[in-house]
Amino acid sequence: MRVLVTGGAGFIGSHLVDRLVSEGFSVRVVDNLSSGRIDYIKRHIDLGRAEFVLGDLKDPSVAMRAASNVDVVFHFAANPEVRLSSTSPEVHFNENILATFNVLEAMRKLGVGELVFASSSTVYGEPEDMLVDESAPLRPVSVYGASKAACEALIHAYSMLYGIRSVVLRYANVVGPRLRHGVIYDFINKLLSNPAELEVLGDGKQAKSYIYIDDAVEATLIAWRRSNAYYDVLNVGSGDYVSVDEIADIVADVMGIDRPVKRYRPVLHGVGWPGDVKRIALKIDKLRGLGFTPRMSSREAVRETARRLLEEIVSEKGEAVKHI
Ligand SMILES: NC(=O)c1ccc[n+]([C@@H]2O[C@H](COP(=O)([O-])OP(=O)(O)OC[C@H]3O[C@@H](n4cnc5c(N)ncnc54)[C@H](O)[C@@H]3O)[C@@H](O)[C@H]2O)c1
Repeated sequence: MRVLVTGGAGFIGSHLVDRLVSEGFSVRVVDNLSSGRIDYIKRHIDLGRAEFVLGDLKDPSVAMRAASNVDVVFHFAANPEVRLSSTSPEVHFNENILATFNVLEAMRKLGVGELVFASSSTVYGEPEDMLVDESAPLRPVSVYGASKAACEALIHAYSMLYGIRSVVLRYANVVGPRLRHGVIYDFINKLLSNPAELEVLGDGKQAKSYIYIDDAVEATLIAWRRSNAYYDVLNVGSGDYVSVDEIADIVADVMGIDRPVKRYRPVLHGVGWPGDVKRIALKIDKLRGLGFTPRMSSREAVRETARRLLEEIVSEKGEAVKHI
């Protein structure tokens, strides 16, 4: 089976590529390397196990080239920086909605029959009940969340009109090695610069679900293989949640730093930036029903990620120093 992974040089995409290659799929990656790194997938390309198309999905001809002769598309390319929503909403419109439209158009024109889409828990916005299942209303509070909800709506229409079997996955915060954005990465870098003090965006009481990358990839493949709906939507998380304050404590502990002074920077109702969600946890009963069991809780995922990212960041900084 021939598989296209858009954004396959990024964090989640490259781990998915590792897994698909290890299972023997013929994999093509399309990526503009705006945040992704070719190093993450280079060994597969060198060994002829993956093909790389350098290009931007905002260009319809790139989407056509990437989707030719494939059976399934895992669409993971996007700009995932929720914070950009309040300053540059056009980025999420272009990178997320326009690029997804181009991917869908290419699939329609080329007759590609299956799509797995990386959506996000941000489509729910600030839910009344913290714990949400897939039937909760979509009330995004960031343009990022709105862009993912718009993509979901487009995918539903394409699925119904043109017979593209689609699995939409609403991921919680996915964390693990190679992650280069988000709170754990931010805290490690801040504490490396100043171990005595930690700036916390928000009041620290924001709480969300986190899922380790290996669990997220496993869930992705289970959902793709076992969902028997023509259009399906599934939450992907670890079933629990962790607060930003706890994340700060875990990261400091992993770095061997004894209680840095936390400087809170809350905006609005205590969130980190306009468009940030205060409290949300994903119910994953539907995914469990397909046979998925997360191996790590949110806290375990955060701790393991802090360990792995610390190693990566320290080694990168060492390399940078060597090159001066
Ligand atoms: N990491 C998370 O916690 C999380 C949670 C929910 C949903 N998601 C979604 O999962 C997907 C992957 O996220 P990630 O964390 O791996 O981010 P990432 O930034 O590491 O990966 C995105 C990849 O897409 C590529 N890309 C971006 N715009 C492109 C374009 N126009 N054309 C071609 N390539 C382009 C980037 O270079 C990068 O390699 C995204 O769709 C994101 O919105 C991520």
